[in-house]
Amino acid sequence: PLVTSRELFKRAYDGKFAIGAFNVNNMEIIQGIVDAAKEEKSPLILQVSAGARKYANPTYLKKLVEAAVEDSGLPIVLHLDHGEDFEICKQCIDDGFTSVMIDASHHPFEENIAITKQVVEYAHSKGVVVEAELGRLAGVEDDVNVSAKDATYTDPQQAAEFVEKTGVDSLAIAIGTSHGAYKFKGEPNLDFERLQAIAKLLPGFPLVLHGASTVLPEFVELCNQYGGNIPGAQGVPEDMLRRAASLGVCKINIDTDLRLAMTAAMRKSLTENPGNFDPRKYLGEGRTAIKEMVRHKIANVLGCNNFL
Ligand code: G3H
Ligand code: 13P
Ligand code: ZN
Repeated sequence: PLVTSRELFKRAYDGKFAIGAFNVNNMEIIQGIVDAAKEEKSPLILQVSAGARKYANPTYLKKLVEAAVEDSGLPIVLHLDHGEDFEICKQCIDDGFTSVMIDASHHPFEENIAITKQVVEYAHSKGVVVEAELGRLAGVEDDVNVSAKDATYTDPQQAAEFVEKTGVDSLAIAIGTSHGAYKFKGEPNLDFERLQAIAKLLPGFPLVLHGASTVLPEFVELCNQYGGNIPGAQGVPEDMLRRAASLGVCKINIDTDLRLAMTAAMRKSLTENPGNFDPRKYLGEGRTAIKEMVRHKIANVLGCNNFL
């Protein structure tokens, strides 16, 4: 069934594992993720960005996720990723989403609280849960590409005050991750002390990690080998994600790894089969690559396998 993340996060928090939140944009991506979750007996958060709604058409995306629920029988959360204002959150709530993110993190603290509170009130009145964000991630999320150094990490005291004042159900925090395939210039480094300080002030409360793709080298290499050009890509090491999951992070967001897996498989397929022009071949290989990658993630990094 379509569910909220409430029960999932409770179990994840207590069990010190995380639920994967995967960005979806088309049928093959959804099928790859859902097939993996079926085999690993894992719940899923399928998240849709404003860009995904624009690309695929909100109705198509919604129906594809409904098909995934019907076909798999898995508990699936349909979540809005990075909702920028009350209006888009309301639209998604009215469309049947079970979870929305209001990302007012670029506004001043008090304004972030006010906007988040407004979304929480509406969402809760409809039985929908809300994620908000405090602190700023570096990278492509921002219009200007701020460097990781200039990004503002989440302040623990403010996080506690924010949760108390908004009544939000989960909170995305900034501890050094960023969106996209270029997360670290040198050695990967997350501020675990800060994460622990936040978690200590918010016992039992689910935290969310955005920008948490690991940027699997095998896919980067395949892309580069088959005509791509993505040098120097680097993600969050797997052991850091496991550690985050053990410290109160219940939702781990993954988009870049899906993009890389699909692109790598499709580049390889198209190059190796120059006579092929049947999209089912290369899209199918993209879908299989996503499935295998997500299986690995669920079983070996997130730890949400055998949940059901
Ligand atoms: O947070 C960003 C996600 O990767 C979604 O990206 O806005 O290009 O769909 P998008
Ligand atoms: P990645 O770019 O690391 O996959 O992060 C995705 C994300 O945070 C979506 O909200
Ligand atoms: Zn994000």
